[in-house]
Amino acid sequence: MPAQSSSSALTLLPRPTEAVLRPGHFALDADTALHIGEGAEPAAELLRTLLAPATGLPLRPSPDGRFTLALDSGLGDLGEEGYALTVDPHAVLLRAAHPTGLLRGIQTARQLLPPQALSATEQRGTRWLLPCADITDAPRHPWRGAMLDVARHFQPVSYLRRYVDLLALHKLSVFHLHLTDDQGWRMPVAAFPKLTEIGGHRTESQRGPAGSGAYDGVPHGGAYTRAELTGLVRYAAARGVTVVPEIEMPGHVRAALAAYPRLGNHPERTLDVWTRWGVCDTVLGVHDEVLDFCRTVLDEVMDVFPSPYIHLGGEECPTAEWTHSAAARERAVAEGLSGFEALHGWFLGRIGDHLVRSGRRPVGWAETGAELPPEFTVMTWREPAHALTAARRGHPVINAHHRATYLDYAQSDAAHEPPAQPGGVVDLRAVHAHDPVPEGPEESQDGDDLVAGRVLGTQAQLWTEFVTTAAHIEYLTYPRLCALADRGWSGPTDWTDFRSRLDGHTARLDALGVHRHP
Ligand code: ACM
Repeated sequence: MPAQSSSSALTLLPRPTEAVLRPGHFALDADTALHIGEGAEPAAELLRTLLAPATGLPLRPSPDGRFTLALDSGLGDLGEEGYALTVDPHAVLLRAAHPTGLLRGIQTARQLLPPQALSATEQRGTRWLLPCADITDAPRHPWRGAMLDVARHFQPVSYLRRYVDLLALHKLSVFHLHLTDDQGWRMPVAAFPKLTEIGGHRTESQRGPAGSGAYDGVPHGGAYTRAELTGLVRYAAARGVTVVPEIEMPGHVRAALAAYPRLGNHPERTLDVWTRWGVCDTVLGVHDEVLDFCRTVLDEVMDVFPSPYIHLGGEECPTAEWTHSAAARERAVAEGLSGFEALHGWFLGRIGDHLVRSGRRPVGWAETGAELPPEFTVMTWREPAHALTAARRGHPVINAHHRATYLDYAQSDAAHEPPAQPGGVVDLRAVHAHDPVPEGPEESQDGDDLVAGRVLGTQAQLWTEFVTTAAHIEYLTYPRLCALADRGWSGPTDWTDFRSRLDGHTARLDALGVHRHP
């Protein structure tokens, strides 16, 4: 159990590894200057940016500054994201071995201030007191993510920046941006302009769940510019958040096929950008032109997104079209595959290989835990057992089990909840209880942490069939994402302790104007 002398006074979220609160405080005021060590400038800049709106404090640099931000290779044991923060009445010292650790420490300092410090408008009359404390902190898992589906419902980049700000507050490390799907393609690709010109717009949207038969009659569309996406990547990086792009293939591609029918299995057919929800039968063909298309798209994706990981989707790919395609039959024979089903893994293998040759790591959604090529990092979502299966096969795993991390399910069964993904409730407690590391006999027998070592972490998913507004996104995301952030950073924490910290943290969400679930 982490040392935490006064859990009622320290409502930090996520919970730090070790935190001791001492009497007294350090007052930040107009005279407070920052002593900025070499390499700590970006952290100092972020601190100023975050505190300026509410406090108006200049926090200018000075070698005599009493608030020190410094890189310290002696803290290497704390990893990329760990940091040490000491607050005394006359000095603040924030140190980390890596720049990202300083960014995490800044979020802690921000949370130690009164919640008004997070307000977007100047808060006159508040004293900016940091309680004296010794904090040493590092995350349990490196991958603590949130996925937002901007394919089904588009959100402007201005909102994505706010979304990133909220991830950073919770020390989350990954913003997984679901950019393409049957219902929309949001990323511009210079060589294929129709992907956004045609694929970015649909004539209307289904109302209610898949199969409802009801439509709203309202056109929906949108796409980012390349400059918006590169700007978002920079904005997120300055906050220690990596944007991981997802380009779905070989299924969930109806929007791309509407733009370029020749990439499908029936080149003569014209398709609309899908207006329905559910799993669409139309998938990419497996001819050479399609592989070239995917490589060209991904080359541009890699130009825009420096993330080591590129998500290729890969799930829910019906093979019916391939079974009726002469080209698919020829391909399966030429590659010596056991049948049409095997084209799925073959396809992802070819494209994954292109990413690997470019120095990146492919990520895919697991259907069974056993079907993705070995070089893939696997995001498991369907069954708890899939995380263990994938880890045992040697895949790095991100555990995104839908019953604990899908925020498109309602968070209670109350009648007032807005329309949500049918099939269950994912309440705050379920998210908090989610352990990304699956239990297997290896661990209990000899303490071998083989499986645990392969689990990179966990992330929340927000699919947006029913979610059109920023307010609705935040209603579904908070406070459930707080629980996931706590779990991913701190490991198992006591529910009562989490709840009491969340009560304090709620004041921060309110200061930020987060449209949270009550
Ligand atoms: C998924 O929920 N389609 C990964």
